[in-house]
Amino acid sequence: MPSVTPHRFAGVFTVKDREQESLATESLAPGKTVYGEKLVSEGGHEYRLWSPRRSKLAAAIRKGLSEMPIRKGSRVLYLGAASGTTVSHCSDIVGDQGVIYAVEFSQRSARELIGLTTSRKNVIPIVEDARHPTRYAPIVGPVEIVYQDVAQPNQAEILYENMKTFCSFGAWGMLAIKARSIDSASDINKIYTRELRTLEEHGLEIVESIDLSPLEKDHRFIVCRATEELT
Ligand SMILES: C[S@@+](CC[C@H](N)C(=O)[O-])C[C@H]1O[C@@H](n2cnc3c(N)ncnc32)[C@H](O)[C@@H]1O
Repeated sequence: MPSVTPHRFAGVFTVKDREQESLATESLAPGKTVYGEKLVSEGGHEYRLWSPRRSKLAAAIRKGLSEMPIRKGSRVLYLGAASGTTVSHCSDIVGDQGVIYAVEFSQRSARELIGLTTSRKNVIPIVEDARHPTRYAPIVGPVEIVYQDVAQPNQAEILYENMKTFCSFGAWGMLAIKARSIDSASDINKIYTRELRTLEEHGLEIVESIDLSPLEKDHRFIVCRATEELT
């Protein structure tokens, strides 16, 4: 019988089944899977296993993330939602009182993302380009967290532009940097240093920077914070 225990991050759980430990979130839409993940029931609750091979946020938690800004009631702007794998777990964590504005520009992925929202009312899908936040500004309310996983050449700039548009002092940025989308040839540490410097130059303090290998090759997960008003 699998056993479920709360993780140190509220809204995240650890499921132990025989010798195997997995991350999980408590499902906001019981009976439904989003990407074929395993469901586990215990004590009248249903939990969805959260794969670190399918979600960079789960990989970052596995690799020792120390700050988890996304919690119950959080208002999150999520850039690069794809078909909603990580978005669905964030939706479980923030619960009915929170909201995930999920931006995705691929029509194909967005179709699946929109399908997800029939059973998850806290996910607002936005089919738009994350490089142009003013286009979706009329739909998005103030948020405390911008999560960015768009695999574009100027990831740090895109994060900052969105934080500047939707956040104020104290807001969090979470960024999955894919080095090879930024530059296919340069030394990856130089690429990371450049992106981190861009964030700092914009007044964002780097809280942590985690290498996601071997779960994700050539990726770093960054948590940063607006320690001054963003201008
Ligand atoms: C690595 S996938 C995201 C995976 C997703 N975050 C997850 O963990 O479930 C990157 C996504 O970003 C989207 N994307 C890339 N550039 C974008 C942009 N400028 N605006 C919106 N979405 C973008 C891609 O279409 C793709 O679906």
